[in-house]
Amino acid sequence: MSFELNKILGAVLAAMMLAMISGIVSGILVHPTKLEKPVFAIEGVAAAPAAGGGAAAPAGPEPIGALMASANADNGKAKTQQCAACHTFDKGQPNRVGPNLWGVIGDEIAHDRGGFAFSTALAAKGGEWTVDKLNEWLWKPQNFAKGTKMTFVGLAKPQDRADVIAYLNAESDSPKPLASLGSAPAPAAAPAPAAAPAEAKPAEAAPQGEAKPAN
Ligand code: HEC
Repeated sequence: MSFELNKILGAVLAAMMLAMISGIVSGILVHPTKLEKPVFAIEGVAAAPAAGGGAAAPAGPEPIGALMASANADNGKAKTQQCAACHTFDKGQPNRVGPNLWGVIGDEIAHDRGGFAFSTALAAKGGEWTVDKLNEWLWKPQNFAKGTKMTFVGLAKPQDRADVIAYLNAESDSPKPLASLGSAPAPAAAPAPAAAPAEAKPAEAAPQGEAKPAN
């Protein structure tokens, strides 16, 4: 009897050790992709001096702060035809492939939307949806949150993004005056997105002499 028990215990112990070892080995082999944030930070910095510094890669969308005040929600609504396969926009409508977007501006990114299962790529972003972040997101979703489930190519035209954001603003319990959504009028001192963590790295990417720190 007790000999049988020993054999069983031995087998259990061996199995546990095997599990532990494979855990350690997979920990060594599989690296979590932690690099995403710094990469994003570089984009934010590259976008800021877009007016002057040429050499930097065109890594970010054109800022749309100056366009917001005169953005047209009706045009934006028309543009959201291409979102409608995946999204609903009115209050109380169901989620589809993507979540219902009522009141998304100012809401937390990938926050609870009727139980919608967000990707970890988007959920890991944190913070709330500002005009600046929506500008980046709608420009190229995969660029904003690599690995996102939103398989949408993006809105290339700044005016389209501004109009769609104006429509998103209207689809809310508390729409804001459009002028208040705009950031700095001139691209000269475009404010870096508040959420972009300035991880010291941006200095490498920026051309010499334009060491403007992101705030
Ligand atoms: C092919 C389907 C698809 C299309 C087209 C699409 N989306 Fe999405 N969208 C998604 C999915 C899926 C998510 C969730 C992404 C994730 O979890 O990674 C999402 C997420 C979002 C979010 C974030 C919601 C939140 O609560 O954080 C916004 C905003 C958004 N989409 C706006 C738009 C707009 C505006 C358009 C059209 C210009 C559009 N989407 C087109 C599928 C789509």
